[in-house]
Amino acid sequence: MNLILLGAPGAGKGTQAEILVKKLSIPAISTGNMLREAIANGTELGMKAKQHMDNGSLVPDELILGIVADRVAQPDCSNGFILDGMPRTLAQAEALENMGVKIDHVVSIEVDDAVIEGRMTGRRVCPKCGASYHIVANPPKMEGICNACGSELTIRKDDAPETVRKRLEVYHATTEILKEFYGKLGRLCIVEGNQPIEKANEEILKAIGAQV
Ligand code: AP5
Repeated sequence: MNLILLGAPGAGKGTQAEILVKKLSIPAISTGNMLREAIANGTELGMKAKQHMDNGSLVPDELILGIVADRVAQPDCSNGFILDGMPRTLAQAEALENMGVKIDHVVSIEVDDAVIEGRMTGRRVCPKCGASYHIVANPPKMEGICNACGSELTIRKDDAPETVRKRLEVYHATTEILKEFYGKLGRLCIVEGNQPIEKANEEILKAIGAQV
């Protein structure tokens, strides 16, 4: 099953992707995590992406398409994958279709902007494996430490309130239109994201016809 998780920044795409990886036994491909890793490693891609990410704008389509095309061709994606945070523009969605990447379901996780702004202040992330936590809604077992790999959790630079507002603007101006694109193709499911994480996950599994 090839799945896309769509939604505003902070809607819960990464959190739900982590749970779905375990339940569906397919990998998650987070373009945000791949770009942050490239920045941490000082690669050419990272250097090109950094300024865009820091100010809350999108990284150019051609950079994203290159890394996603390579990643979905890896053997671990042969039974399916979860795209988290890609596509984000009409051009990216059309390029996926033109590449022959067949998407079965597109799940849009819906959360109001006001709720998102509140969520971001409590988010903590693992700089090593990309796992995402919230100090109240989804705390790690040990404060400040990643459950999955034991690294020290950090606050993302682009979670500063003014950058979050810019990212939300970019989402509404450029990415939200993808609901219409995939709706017309009959692949869109809408899921309420402002409910407990497990409940939202059950709704996603039902929407894509997987076992709850
Ligand atoms: P990216 O890393 O993809 O960020 P994003 O899409 O803005 O999404 P987030 O990671 O901020 O949020 P999320 O929806 O995953 O929420 P999470 O689960 O963490 O992209 C970053 C940047 O990279 C972009 O701005 C852009 O520059 C660039 N980029 C990436 N992909 C690109 C592309 N394809 N094209 C161009 N540029 C690209 O949850 C958020 C918080 O809420 C957490 O604390 C979590 O614990 C909590 N939470 C989750 N669910 C719930 C719930 N149900 N109730 C309460 N709290 C919850």
